[in-house]
Amino acid sequence: MKPYYEHAGITIFHGDCREILPQLPKVDAVITDPPYGEVNRSTQGLRLLDKGCADAEKFPLAEILPQLVIRGSSLYVWCGTEQVSGIRSAFVDAGLSTRLCIWEKTNPSPMNGQHLWLSSIECCVYGKEQGAVFNQFCESPVFRGPIAEQNGHPTPKPEWLIAKLIRASTADAATVLDPFMGSGTTLVAAKNLGRKAIGIELEERYCEIAAQRLSQEVLEFEPGPLIPPIAPISLPLEALITEEELEAIEVLDEKE
Ligand SMILES: C[S@@+](CC[C@H](N)C(=O)[O-])C[C@H]1O[C@@H](n2cnc3c(N)ncnc32)[C@H](O)[C@@H]1O
Repeated sequence: MKPYYEHAGITIFHGDCREILPQLPKVDAVITDPPYGEVNRSTQGLRLLDKGCADAEKFPLAEILPQLVIRGSSLYVWCGTEQVSGIRSAFVDAGLSTRLCIWEKTNPSPMNGQHLWLSSIECCVYGKEQGAVFNQFCESPVFRGPIAEQNGHPTPKPEWLIAKLIRASTADAATVLDPFMGSGTTLVAAKNLGRKAIGIELEERYCEIAAQRLSQEVLEFEPGPLIPPIAPISLPLEALITEEELEAIEVLDEKE
């Protein structure tokens, strides 16, 4: 199997992931964003977007899930809302612990905002094999931040978001796999975090965008916190409020 691109631990294969995946070794984390098959539909005239083949679901996602489950110790699969339960079931059947992660876009498209709630969240199903790396502590799986800059791919994910998942679920020098690589955001984030990565993409023009991004040395950073972080729940009350506030609560308690 000849790679389309290979440099410093980052490899791209141009082709159909259903044919390439069986030839790959097990990796530390699979982080991927398959076509949702959602945005090309016209939804009662409210939404007329065309994301072209990047969003076209060419085969049922269920077909590929068994391949993904055996290839990664941790898995993150971005998906449309209708796909969430199918992916969760596949993970549970494979004995993985699962959580639903949400990305809340802080600058969503205002499209149709006068008719209904904005389309400002995206779902990702997380699966974790027993013993797989998890570097976070008591953190909510709701991630808030902006959408990606346009890069020539119709549906790029922001690098800060994928970098968060890589940091959470891999150790230094781990290998990350993205079988629906698109413009290569997972690979760029992995490279910038010192991880190895393998990407697969059906469309050559997106392989080219990814290769160009990987050749640039510019680092994109995670945005600063947009809302105050939630304090870990295990902290005692005294650590969260001032002495005066604590005294006021105690006085109230005495009055009850
Ligand atoms: C939602 S996009 C991924 C975008 C990516 N997260 C990014 O940041 O650029 C899904 C990609 O999967 C690709 N794709 C669709 N079917 C595929 C297949 N069978 N094998 C490999 N790639 C495929 C599409 O061409 C598309 O670029």
